[in-house]
Amino acid sequence: MPSIARPSIPAAAAPHRSSRERHADVVLSGGAGGPSAAVARDSGAERCERTARPPLPDNPWSTPSEAVRLVLRGRTARQALPIAAVVGTILSAVNQGSVIASATATGDTWLKVGVNYAVPYLVASIGYLAGRRVTAQRAPDALEWQRYVAAFHDERPAVTERLLARADHSPYDWLTEPLHGTSGPVLDLACGSAPTRDVLPHARWLGVDSSAGELAAAARAGREPVLRARADALPLGTGSVDAVCAALCFPLFAPIGPVLAEIHHVLRPGGTLVALVPSRPAPHPTGWLRWTGLMRALGIRSQPWPTPEARDGLGTILREHGFTVDSEQRRVFTLDLSTPDSVELLIDGLYLPGHDERHIADAKRRLAGRARPGHRLPLPLRRVVAHLPA
Ligand SMILES: C[S@@+](CC[C@H](N)C(=O)[O-])C[C@H]1O[C@@H](n2cnc3c(N)ncnc32)[C@H](O)[C@@H]1O
Repeated sequence: MPSIARPSIPAAAAPHRSSRERHADVVLSGGAGGPSAAVARDSGAERCERTARPPLPDNPWSTPSEAVRLVLRGRTARQALPIAAVVGTILSAVNQGSVIASATATGDTWLKVGVNYAVPYLVASIGYLAGRRVTAQRAPDALEWQRYVAAFHDERPAVTERLLARADHSPYDWLTEPLHGTSGPVLDLACGSAPTRDVLPHARWLGVDSSAGELAAAARAGREPVLRARADALPLGTGSVDAVCAALCFPLFAPIGPVLAEIHHVLRPGGTLVALVPSRPAPHPTGWLRWTGLMRALGIRSQPWPTPEARDGLGTILREHGFTVDSEQRRVFTLDLSTPDSVELLIDGLYLPGHDERHIADAKRRLAGRARPGHRLPLPLRRVVAHLPA
């Protein structure tokens, strides 16, 4: 069973420290040395170290349909054909040899001969597949998720922004609509490559993220200021921001309570929180089937998240943590998947902890090969607008 990739804990993911110590980690893009210099210093300490794991066999499979596909594509033939040839010939000679030799064979005789070869072929195929099953992973714990997400974003910065750029409308425009009248500072929590900087050009904007790779991408795009910190340890003063926006990050926070406590701390009383979260695909003819097909190809039932209840249940969680929820809206965007590149980008943008890279690469190749002009995938998102009591 392949184990979860275990990158080392980034500096920003170190255990909780005093606020003064935390301030020492802050990387302000406008500060001395600039973000790239600081980020480059940090990333050296964040090299991934992978645990030793058994090599993956050729032709791995995890669902029965994948196993059947391997048989139909002849992937088991190299092992099964010689066995079927020997066993089938012996069985046919013993059981049907005299009938065939006396030239009295009927259709029934030849059917039996066929079965003599088919059965050992199938048995040998099952033997071949038995050693290649990739079993479902146990769920990673919070620390494993943290390490996985840190390595994921350092290895593929801006992946979320690039993927959402393929949507029919900008989810970032939708997210930030309620903030256009905000005159005070706006904090983009877990800003990634900072796409909201461009859609809030006149705001006193500040981006925070724990990934050095993502912040370097933001800096390359000229999106400033950004600082490197964890969402549950923000180096900002009490009530220092007027609004917080958070795109596609709440289901990543595990546990979510300390992050909400930190938002309470930095958001002024009466301040606004706008959040965008993935919403479950509805069981509706095309959309649901396409997500199901995608998940099946990847050998999973649904996309894993460390805090899945913070998707459609985010409004409830915010109420439980003292926020007043002003609105909750679900909107289905459409992703263009008409080219192999777009399919590969979609799969690159999914969190798949514990999945063997070769298995993912195989699914990616198959799905990318099916990309056709006009192929689209519904992308349901939920926007929650809330505020702190004044
Ligand atoms: C799906 S990406 C979204 C990025 C950006 N908001 C966007 O929409 O393009 C999630 C982001 O959350 C960041 N992140 C995850 N856990 C974090 C934490 N505990 N503190 C700060 N950032 C975190 C990741 O580094 C990543 O940039």
